[in-house]
Amino acid sequence: GWNAEFFIENTIKEIKDTVKDKKVICAVSGGVDSTVLAVLLNKAIGKNLIAIYIDNGLMRKNESIEVIEMFKKLGINVHYVGAGEIFLERLHGVVEPEMKRKIIGHTFVEVFEREAEKFVDVEFLAQGTLYPDVIESTSYRGPSSKIKTHHNVGGLPEKMKFKLIEPFRELFKDEVRRVGKSLGLDDEILNRHPFPGPGLAVRIIGEITHEKLEILRNADEILIEEIKKANLYDKMWQAFAVLLPVRSVGVMGDERSYEYVIALRAVTSQDGMTADWVRLPYDVLERISSRIVNEVRGVNRVVYDITTKPPATIEWE
Ligand code: XMP
Repeated sequence: GWNAEFFIENTIKEIKDTVKDKKVICAVSGGVDSTVLAVLLNKAIGKNLIAIYIDNGLMRKNESIEVIEMFKKLGINVHYVGAGEIFLERLHGVVEPEMKRKIIGHTFVEVFEREAEKFVDVEFLAQGTLYPDVIESTSYRGPSSKIKTHHNVGGLPEKMKFKLIEPFRELFKDEVRRVGKSLGLDDEILNRHPFPGPGLAVRIIGEITHEKLEILRNADEILIEEIKKANLYDKMWQAFAVLLPVRSVGVMGDERSYEYVIALRAVTSQDGMTADWVRLPYDVLERISSRIVNEVRGVNRVVYDITTKPPATIEWE
């Protein structure tokens, strides 16, 4: 069978032989693949690794700080690039999901290239491309690659002047997790739910605003907190909140309210291709719902998505 230690040993040797004393740049997101990649590269080439984290303004609450901190603990110095306003400006008024993805993807590449130019002697670009990404090379993990374009950090264009290093090209996700485990990474890192490259942009249905981002971040934080408290986080593929572009009527004291609706999504899945909704216990749903409507200003209604994939997708956009 496949052996993680053996893979690590060989890959480190290969990377060293290829890179020599040049520099390797890579984009990290805090996700499993790019994190394991950065740790592996750090082990192979140490100071010659340049890790860049681009904050696109579409991350979850405190996520950017936590990712930078996590890397610090792993002994990796990550260059933080705060680009939120550029992304949000370009997304202003954009409603169509694929247009959001396109804008985010292009802006990511542009910001990344501009950062990369600040370093000298960079000859290589490392990416955490997995085997399934290679076989569906056009993009996205769906049955038809045309359903949604996939703009992950793994989607940097070939036209860039760097030579590519993609050590995980032949690996599946669970093998990358095993590599991470062998490299000493915590389960908390290795078991993180997938988070789409376009981030919260595809979880705010319709137009993205600062106000909506704030609402969604707060609701999402509560959902994840309660799911972790109930020991359910590791038992599912993904859980997240979605902000709908709908207001509904409610009552608050003697007053009528007219506020946003939050949809909760929690699914099990093997590979993201198909999914089933999680039968969350009623008491957990109740806590999440009452906390969201009580603690998140601007929300007066919470609904639970009980659709399988297909026919729905996991994300709402
Ligand atoms: P869907 O919504 O298509 O999602 O059922 C399947 C899995 O893919 C993730 N996803 C994305 N990941 N860029 C990404 O990096 C994207 O544009 C994107 N769209 C969906 C989704 O979170 C789920 O895990």
